[in-house]
Amino acid sequence: METKTIALVDRPAWKALKAHADEIRGRHMRELFAEDASRGERMTAEAEGIFLDYSKNRVTDETLKLLVQLAKESGLRARAEAMFTGEKINITENRAVLHVALRAPKTEKIFVDGEDVVPGVHEVLDKMAAFADRIRSGEWKGHTGKRIRNVVNIGIGGSDLGPVMAYEALKHYSQRDLTFRFVSNVDGTDFAEAVQDLDPEETLFLVASKTFTTLETMTNAHTARDWSLAKLKDEKAVAKHFVAISTNAKEVSKFGIDTANMFGFWDWVGGRYSMDSAIGLSTMIAIGPKQFREMLEGFHAMDVHFRTTPPEKNLPALLGLLTIWYTEFFDAQTQAVLPYEQYLKRFPAYLQQLTMESNGKHVTLDGTHVDYQTGAIYWGEPGTNGQHSFYQLIHQGTRLIPCDFIGFYKTLNPLGRHHDMLMANVFAQAEALAFGKTAKQVKAEGTPDWLVPHRVFEGNRPSNTILAEKLTPAVLGKLIALYEHAVFTQGVVWNIDSFDQWGVELGKVLATKILGELESKDEPKLEHDSSTTSLIKRYRKNK
Ligand code: F6P
Repeated sequence: METKTIALVDRPAWKALKAHADEIRGRHMRELFAEDASRGERMTAEAEGIFLDYSKNRVTDETLKLLVQLAKESGLRARAEAMFTGEKINITENRAVLHVALRAPKTEKIFVDGEDVVPGVHEVLDKMAAFADRIRSGEWKGHTGKRIRNVVNIGIGGSDLGPVMAYEALKHYSQRDLTFRFVSNVDGTDFAEAVQDLDPEETLFLVASKTFTTLETMTNAHTARDWSLAKLKDEKAVAKHFVAISTNAKEVSKFGIDTANMFGFWDWVGGRYSMDSAIGLSTMIAIGPKQFREMLEGFHAMDVHFRTTPPEKNLPALLGLLTIWYTEFFDAQTQAVLPYEQYLKRFPAYLQQLTMESNGKHVTLDGTHVDYQTGAIYWGEPGTNGQHSFYQLIHQGTRLIPCDFIGFYKTLNPLGRHHDMLMANVFAQAEALAFGKTAKQVKAEGTPDWLVPHRVFEGNRPSNTILAEKLTPAVLGKLIALYEHAVFTQGVVWNIDSFDQWGVELGKVLATKILGELESKDEPKLEHDSSTTSLIKRYRKNK
């Protein structure tokens, strides 16, 4: 049944879920597990080497059935097909949404406005590979003939978070005699600290910006240019020390970068979906073209899984639907992502843009204000560090915080008992959250009565456990695609445009205006509210 035009709250599955949630809220996972000895094995799904245990959720078979029905009534299948076949599903920007084409094999054909985009993708990948090889081998020389030892990516948002996350995630596979730095913030400290121990003669800047007009990135790029030329003292040096990654050739030339040194991508790649496009050039230089392509194969494998698997066995669909379940019917505000893998330390930050810029929307596709919640707040830190800071609130606080635990069977750095200890913590945390500890158990341990309530763990706190063999480039690709499509699933059910980001515009416009007021020699005529006006005055007086 295709009822995607019906408002979400009027869809039959939604109504059924609402009534069903009232029953489930009164049930404890202790009972659910006691009633069904096979639950822990049954409520799992596996694809492409990624295993998902979703049994420790406040769900029954009926819940799953209704969530799957909701996906169907929302037209998930058709919308996914529309994305994969290049339809302009980003309606407010009238653009196709084709990050999946970035990892499509050469044999595939995907058309946008009558043109197959796959050959262009591979052309850019080949150009990136040739360049990456020249940097890695030392063949590419700086202006004074020295080899490049440092690569600095300048970008922000999707042009930074993906590259820095992937570099950190895949450091184990990186060429260690190259230093990588990432500059994003317009705060000058970011640039100053990134280059303070670098030699301009050995430093290559990758200016990564889809639009090539983003204020932060352009400011940092100009500062980088000044920093380089202060030592290299020759405009011609720019050609050896700056390359651009952008969709905007005109602005790239204006900046002074030869478009021969530009790596392109397309308007159908959203910034937060671009780390596997040319925006990933730093990743490719770090790990080499072969491993970069392995990462793309990982992405593609998850794309195929998402496109072809029914929702009940579809990992991204299940993750997306479970977040909807808690967001809509349990008042959950946030979703924690807790990787038990130090290399994934920037993964939660990357996911924040992916999920929150995509689904932080207040109107449906037809512009009607939603009468339900959208976009969960994603956050997290790598385990076990989080356990010694914020897990207290997850275990005993008053809010429901669904958690995704991510762990690996094998570590990339086997050291004594470390990995078993790490993984013991994954399983222990999920177990403690689900089952808790009753007053009876606490008392039986000899706890004095007055202390018992403080030591009780209510349990019934949901989590998913996601496991894979070990963190490889391919597995990273699969994990990212897993969340990309989970976000897509949510967006389809919420009937919102997950691919625009109008919400960042207003602040940008106001900042440009205020910058003039902060810098003006004459006393500016301020026409803000009384708070903003007096803050500007105070800053001008004290700066
Ligand atoms: O914050 C808004 C945004 O447009 C993001 O979507 C994007 O990733 C970021 O700015 C950077 O944009 P650009 O790559 O064009 O510099």
